[in-house]
Amino acid sequence: MSASRVGRATLKSAKGAAAAAAKPANAAPRTGAKKNKLKAAAPVYPEYTPALSKRAHPTLTDFHHHPPSTTTRMSPRVMTVLGVSALGLSAYIGYLYASYRREVTYSQNLSATVPATANVTDRYNTTARTFDADVEMSEKLMRLGAKRRDLCRRARGDVLEVSCGTGRNIEYYDFGPVRRGIVDERTGAVGLRGCRSVTFVDLSPQMVEMARRKFEEIYPGDDALRKRVEFRVEDAAAVGGGPSREITGAAVPGQPKQYFDTVVQTMGLCSLPDPVGTLRHLGTLVDPQKGEILLLEHGRSHYAWLNRVLDNLAPAHADRHGCWWNRDIGEIVRESGLEVVEEKRWHFGTTWKYVLRPARKAVE
Ligand SMILES: C[S@@+](CC[C@H](N)C(=O)[O-])C[C@H]1O[C@@H](n2cnc3c(N)ncnc32)[C@H](O)[C@@H]1O
Repeated sequence: MSASRVGRATLKSAKGAAAAAAKPANAAPRTGAKKNKLKAAAPVYPEYTPALSKRAHPTLTDFHHHPPSTTTRMSPRVMTVLGVSALGLSAYIGYLYASYRREVTYSQNLSATVPATANVTDRYNTTARTFDADVEMSEKLMRLGAKRRDLCRRARGDVLEVSCGTGRNIEYYDFGPVRRGIVDERTGAVGLRGCRSVTFVDLSPQMVEMARRKFEEIYPGDDALRKRVEFRVEDAAAVGGGPSREITGAAVPGQPKQYFDTVVQTMGLCSLPDPVGTLRHLGTLVDPQKGEILLLEHGRSHYAWLNRVLDNLAPAHADRHGCWWNRDIGEIVRESGLEVVEEKRWHFGTTWKYVLRPARKAVE
């Protein structure tokens, strides 16, 4: 064989080998156009054929019909941020839990000296100056302003507010003339609205002073209105009947009015030494026929787990703030014997609203 013939033969066998290599290992013999179409629908990737042992798991060898993986990998930076955040969060939860356990231990040690019946009302004398700042944030988060406004809008005629504190409700009273109008915007209920007078009462002189200042800030120089309000340092359980003659509550000149039309109390039952007895007393201060007692209170929740937390921390909270936050408001209202006109609860059941009136038997 000549050198050129040897060269051509070598070239031919090399081309044949290359064609064989390009043909997929599992390619079926060409038997017609139909089969070719089916084959075209299932692309194969011969270049990803690894050299695996014949005993390898079938899922490892079945790579021919899978495209190369296109899943995106998380960048190291994102992974680092997530890792650090998870670490920070778990450290914070650990810190909260440790603080909670510490407070529970402190609280349990206190429960001997501060029993649930302890009178802690003097705490407000020292917290009066910072009270508003202390509760501002939580009241905003809980949207309590709207609930106070809705409650106070229902107050009418000659009003008594007990446990008035720093006067957080002053801005919500309707001091317009007493008239017929919508008293509940949600239900459209119509009734008398507008306050003729408001008597603010609290046991703490410091709290009463803060309330008086707040009134002056909200209604500066309004002498006519000032004549229709009164601020008194008094025990809610000992308030006498009717507004004083100094404010325009007297129905007959010279004769003091015997009853208030509305009694309001917000966040007060938690602090009273005798909540049931005081509520009963408030029931005797309103007009037996048309009078109402309006309450916005905080206390026990619908949930056992939350009540456990409130119970565990109650002595420490009462000792610091003068407030028993784990009281069963529903039970107090039931025991008072007043008639429930309306009842609502929010915030896991810890915020309670009541519209009450003197019980029927008291009227007869
Ligand atoms: C938690 S503060 C609530 C203040 C206010 N009502 C409010 O909604 O922000 C409880 C208030 O009840 C007052 N208080 C406690 N015992 C009282 C009593 N026997 N008679 C009148 N006020 C009392 C306290 O001085 C304190 O101002």
